[in-house]
Amino acid sequence: MEAYIYDSIRTPRGIGKKNGALAQVSPVQLVTTLLKALKERNNLDTSLVEDVVLGCVTQAGEQGGNIAKVAAQCAGYGDHLAAVSLNRYCASGLEAVNQAAARVRSGWSDLIIAGGVESMSRVPMGIDGTAWVMEPDAAFGKFVPQGISADLIASKYGYTRADVDQFALTSQQRATQARANGYFDKSIIPVHDVNGFLHLGQDEYIRPNTTLEALAGLKPSFKQMGEMLFDQTALDKYVEVERINHVHHAGNSSGLVDGAGVMLIGSKEIGEQLGLKPRAIIKMGTIIGSEPLIMLEGPTPATKKALKKAGMKATDIDLFEVNEAFAVVPMRLMENLKVDHSIVNVNGGAIAMGHPLGATGCMILGTALDELERRDKSTALATLCVGGGMGIATIIERV
Ligand SMILES: CC(C)(COP(=O)(O)OP(=O)(O)OC[C@H]1O[C@@H](n2cnc3c(N)ncnc32)[C@H](O)[C@@H]1OP(=O)(O)O)[C@@H](O)C(=O)NCCC(=O)NCCS
Repeated sequence: MEAYIYDSIRTPRGIGKKNGALAQVSPVQLVTTLLKALKERNNLDTSLVEDVVLGCVTQAGEQGGNIAKVAAQCAGYGDHLAAVSLNRYCASGLEAVNQAAARVRSGWSDLIIAGGVESMSRVPMGIDGTAWVMEPDAAFGKFVPQGISADLIASKYGYTRADVDQFALTSQQRATQARANGYFDKSIIPVHDVNGFLHLGQDEYIRPNTTLEALAGLKPSFKQMGEMLFDQTALDKYVEVERINHVHHAGNSSGLVDGAGVMLIGSKEIGEQLGLKPRAIIKMGTIIGSEPLIMLEGPTPATKKALKKAGMKATDIDLFEVNEAFAVVPMRLMENLKVDHSIVNVNGGAIAMGHPLGATGCMILGTALDELERRDKSTALATLCVGGGMGIATIIERV
């Protein structure tokens, strides 16, 4: 049995601060906007949709209490619609897709909506607290914040400030061009207020005028915190590293943004019944764990595992989407797997467009699918680094 992607849509990403264009929109409304659009553009018989599986990382306040079910209720699909909110940190949106696909492939479900949401302007990262720092066995000598992990990777493998800034510039240039050329339009659902006025129609975070000179002038974001609290912990564990070179800053780290993304995933039979055209099969989805202090090295083992289980090689993949949590993350994967930058994040990534934690995984898989179709290529792999050292990867193949 196969799991098919029948549709994939997302909101634009809004700047995740109080002045961002989506800051007045609740995260429930972001998801509801997408569920209504999915229904409309597929002329969907919503009585056949069984479940909404939604990634959301900071499940507190208006993102708490199973936001997926609240959005499902508000979208008017009917009382039969079940919903679950899950948290696998930054992988949550892709985890939702993988879980939905696994259920369809096993025959346990026929039609599921999977995706994710995060309003970082309204529900800031970390306000739900964290067991990592509360539990001495997990914290002392074993945990550093992600920005320090990113700087540790740069220091360990010799990525310089110039290297990561050049990567960031490319992300901005590619996203700028993709937005201008309308490559995202097929999947973006504009967000309006109740009166029909437009909140946001396109990704807001991109900075088209970014230059290497401006990037070179930005202050490292994690230097002060590292020197005061965490660098020594990292150096004690990674004794081969002489000192932490703090190369990451606001211009080469993923941006804080608001947004949501969903996919309609179902079996062949349900698609035929509903007259839906399948766009791709979800061929493989994997998750791994790795050393949690350096934390961000998960994409390589997750990708290797997904490729192995699918009986494929890296050279079989036409396009990669590697979440740009920090510049070193995709750079490391490209080096480890000898994948050329020309097929990685071809329309930019989270450095330019932002990373709405719970939604990104689903969004980048959708971006990969759109781009496969635009280029008439076959296979894509999306992967993200994940808190606690985990890594996730999903392979899709066009039908
Ligand atoms: C890196 C980080 C701390 C920066 O946050 P911030 O300081 O609030 O970032 P800002 O957007 O305010 O940008 C800071 C400055 O850099 C400037 N800047 C950012 N990107 C720029 C660019 N491409 N070109 C020029 N300047 C830029 C901003 O204009 C701002 O300048 P100002 O201080 O003069 O106003 C934050 O984005 C972050 O934590 N990112 C990672 C999130 C994360 O951990 N996600 C999970 C990953 S696994």
